[in-house]
Amino acid sequence: MQYGYFDDQNREYVITRPDTPLPWINYLGCESYFGIISNTAGGYSFYRDARLRRLTRYRYNNVPFDLGGRYIYLRDNETGDYWSPSWQPTGSDLEHYTCRHGMGYSTISGARRGIAASTRYFVPLGENLEIWQFTVTNHRLAPAQLSIFSAIEFCLWDAQDDSTNFQRNFSIGEVEIEDGVIYHKTEYRERRDHFAWFACSAELDGFDTQRDTFLGGARGWDRPIAVERGQSGNSVAHGWAPIGSHHVRLTLAPGETRRILFVLGYHENPKDAKFDPPDSQTVNKKTVKPVITKYLVPANADDAFYKLRDYWAGLLGICQVSTPDVHTDRMVNIWNAYQCMATFNMSRSASFYESGIGRGLGFRDSNQDLLGFVHMIPERARERILDLAATQLPTGGAYHQYQPLTKKGNNDVGGNFNDDPHWLILGVAAYLKETGDWSILKAPVQYDNQPGSEQALYEHLQRSFRYTLDRLGPHGLPLIGRADWNDCLNLNCFSDTPGQSFQTTTNKEGKVAESVFIGGLFVLAAKEMAAIAKHSGDVDEAAGYLAEGARMEQTVREHGWDGEWFIRAYDDSGDKVGSKDCAEGKIFIEPQGFCVIAGIGLEDGLARRALDSVRKYLATPHGIVLQQPAYSRYYLNLGEISSYPPGYKENAGIFCHNNPWVIIAEAMAGNGDAAHDYYSRINPSAREPIGDIHRCEPYVYAQMIAGRDAPTHGEAKNSWLTGTAAWNYYAITQWILGIRPSYDGLEIAPVIPVRWSGFAATRKFRGVTYHIAVQRKGPGNKVKLTVDGRPLRGNIVPGPTDGRSESHINITIE
Ligand code: GLC
Ligand code: GLC
Repeated sequence: MQYGYFDDQNREYVITRPDTPLPWINYLGCESYFGIISNTAGGYSFYRDARLRRLTRYRYNNVPFDLGGRYIYLRDNETGDYWSPSWQPTGSDLEHYTCRHGMGYSTISGARRGIAASTRYFVPLGENLEIWQFTVTNHRLAPAQLSIFSAIEFCLWDAQDDSTNFQRNFSIGEVEIEDGVIYHKTEYRERRDHFAWFACSAELDGFDTQRDTFLGGARGWDRPIAVERGQSGNSVAHGWAPIGSHHVRLTLAPGETRRILFVLGYHENPKDAKFDPPDSQTVNKKTVKPVITKYLVPANADDAFYKLRDYWAGLLGICQVSTPDVHTDRMVNIWNAYQCMATFNMSRSASFYESGIGRGLGFRDSNQDLLGFVHMIPERARERILDLAATQLPTGGAYHQYQPLTKKGNNDVGGNFNDDPHWLILGVAAYLKETGDWSILKAPVQYDNQPGSEQALYEHLQRSFRYTLDRLGPHGLPLIGRADWNDCLNLNCFSDTPGQSFQTTTNKEGKVAESVFIGGLFVLAAKEMAAIAKHSGDVDEAAGYLAEGARMEQTVREHGWDGEWFIRAYDDSGDKVGSKDCAEGKIFIEPQGFCVIAGIGLEDGLARRALDSVRKYLATPHGIVLQQPAYSRYYLNLGEISSYPPGYKENAGIFCHNNPWVIIAEAMAGNGDAAHDYYSRINPSAREPIGDIHRCEPYVYAQMIAGRDAPTHGEAKNSWLTGTAAWNYYAITQWILGIRPSYDGLEIAPVIPVRWSGFAATRKFRGVTYHIAVQRKGPGNKVKLTVDGRPLRGNIVPGPTDGRSESHINITIE
């Protein structure tokens, strides 16, 4: 069944009942201030770093799942009936409910007994605050006497400490209340120079800042005593749990509508001007007051919203397509691009499945994510690349993760994931192809954030490449280290102690276990390095890369081919992983996808055989599983992969992130039908009708769909923050639709389903808007291009030389 519908016109997904199988969420903010919000107003906000600078509190693994949020309560002052127009936290019956998740905003509406209320939540561009535009209408025939209560719970900044260190936390909470604005200033007295504020545009009838006063003893957010009584306690929090709640009383005539703004913000003061007067402990509010005043004016809030809408229209307008498939269109034009921006902002840190306290930005993850967002925000992509590269180690290896606030490598996780360095090469290649900004290669970048260690980014790429050459195993394949792309293939770990981390526990030195996957990755990286060197005029160096790539390709063919598919790895004993010789885990998806992407076997049929094996052994109606047969027990020599019950996650789950590798591989092999078929199997929009099986949001990809060995085959998990977003976007736009930035211009090479008569697209690329019309004339993939009426030799459009900013490309496929 479905829980809502797509409103493509407005770029919204409309949820029509609150009891979705899981919280269906959206992101607010796209610069520094962020929030996540569920369809029942659950979630939290933070400034830049979900762990270190958390504004509002969220309770993990709660029941209901999404408790802790941006809540509004309505109370009928005549009957005492109270409810939440967002359904939670009271869970009261609503006669009407919708949640519209849009681009950077969510509007949640609910009506009960003739009182309709709606709140639009968003973060204005350029500001560190969120606006709740609340509207209430009386549809009754008689006047209504209402109370409105807002409610948030403050987090004491460090979200990890906040949820563990209670012996301290219960004594440090501090607030100030001035002119109805609630200021949360815990730890401001000592080293912090930042505080949060929560304001309301209406005249207040009261407020609360102490949680216990608002909720009452032994009560939850579902029935606060203040709401039940219709009266705030005007409490001032000292210690315990500071909250922010405003109380507004209204009388609404029949048919009357009122609007109220609630604004929650984050603010920093100069270190030497924290207090006012300077010798007091009172927060200096001079710098924040103009901001507060501005956004309590309805017209300013509206204006900020329209600017946000235009901003997203601009970003999404860079690539728009019109194909015979509605699911393709809405993912490419709206939701997949939008999800790519979320992965840019969040990496894997904050979702309903990533707690925001565990991980920072992943080196591998964020480099790959570039594929999905570089065309929308090239300047920020550049900055991201330079940040990532600055965490690289002098060896060419990389910290696996870094914290966004400090931009320093995360010591807890460390490095030695031997695939990591190559993703920097691929990320930079994607940036160069999109922008043509070769100057980035000369940018000086530190190693391990050490001042004085600066070298040109190009040298970083060279070290990435050499990292593998310095670490080859007995077969000449790359050593795997702690893991490769598959974090759970831990061939040097041998952990037999419960609770140990498979990724970070002490590993064996690891001079034997090799990865065929990294072999494929290396071959691809070699090609990119060669192209980059050639473009920079260094022909000898380019030839060197190609020679290394060719040697590795030969090694993969010799030691990485199993007869019908590519082997996955060699373990610490030199035994094959992912081979017909194995009892379980005979065939894996990763090397089939990636070796073909690297071009191995495209000429001589190996690629076709590998892809046929994928179809035969790994493809299910819900997507392609990671390996088969699933591991039925724990294997000491394989690590975490075998820790998962069969069918979940890396143990034969449909790990959506690597499905696009096969999609791209099929497109490269010229099979548009298979490519688009695989694409559609995991396309969330296409899965909307099976909402009860899929369970996650139908508008974004999830990391995983349970594989055929799982009792819940087809069930998605871990939505939003996954490399699936970038890879699928890349697969559909660049390989199936074939609109592909290249070093020398825009390459056009669609490999679309045979039944498609064609498609149209608009793509902005290096300052030119290309209007692309594709028409199928025969069943193959041979393309002929005319550019602005003139036939083009080949299929790379070099870009107009006469300064024109529009260009029309007509393509026929035969
Ligand atoms: C997670 C990680 C990613 C890894 C994948 C496979 O999605 O974020 O880095 O490649 O799992 O293990
Ligand atoms: C777990 C997950 C995997 C993730 C890894 C690193 O092992 O299964 O998907 O990549 O943690 O955080």
